[in-house]
Amino acid sequence: MIGRLNHVAIAVPDLAAAAAKYRDLLGAHVLHPHDLPEHGVTVVFVQLENTKIELLTPLGPDSPIRKFLDANPSGGIHHICYEVSDLPSAARTLTEAGARILGDGQPRIGAHGLPVLFLHPKDFDGTLIELEEVNPELQPA
Ligand code: CO
Repeated sequence: MIGRLNHVAIAVPDLAAAAAKYRDLLGAHVLHPHDLPEHGVTVVFVQLENTKIELLTPLGPDSPIRKFLDANPSGGIHHICYEVSDLPSAARTLTEAGARILGDGQPRIGAHGLPVLFLHPKDFDGTLIELEEVNPELQPA
């Protein structure tokens, strides 16, 4: 069902400092920050050769990562995202097996403009998993 690792998302208390570390110390290709008000985060994408890192910091009072940062003030890995080719089919398989989808259970449009859903971390060894529907025909080999 799952394909490539699409990204690892890291919640950070200081986005500029985190971006500078990835750019200047780790020598990574770091893109400019952008606000995603509908997701309650500001994000910096770090483009690696084989995947992406997303540095997230809260945007607005109702940010979904606020509580996470309250519990982890120095930041931490927030979720990992796997690609799937058919999100409704993946959702059906998972819910039939008893896995819980966060929210109303329906895919929504994620940070990359593609349908995503999140799986309950208690069902996956304490890891918040995002599934993103990616059309493999549109991907570079
Ligand atoms: Co994500």
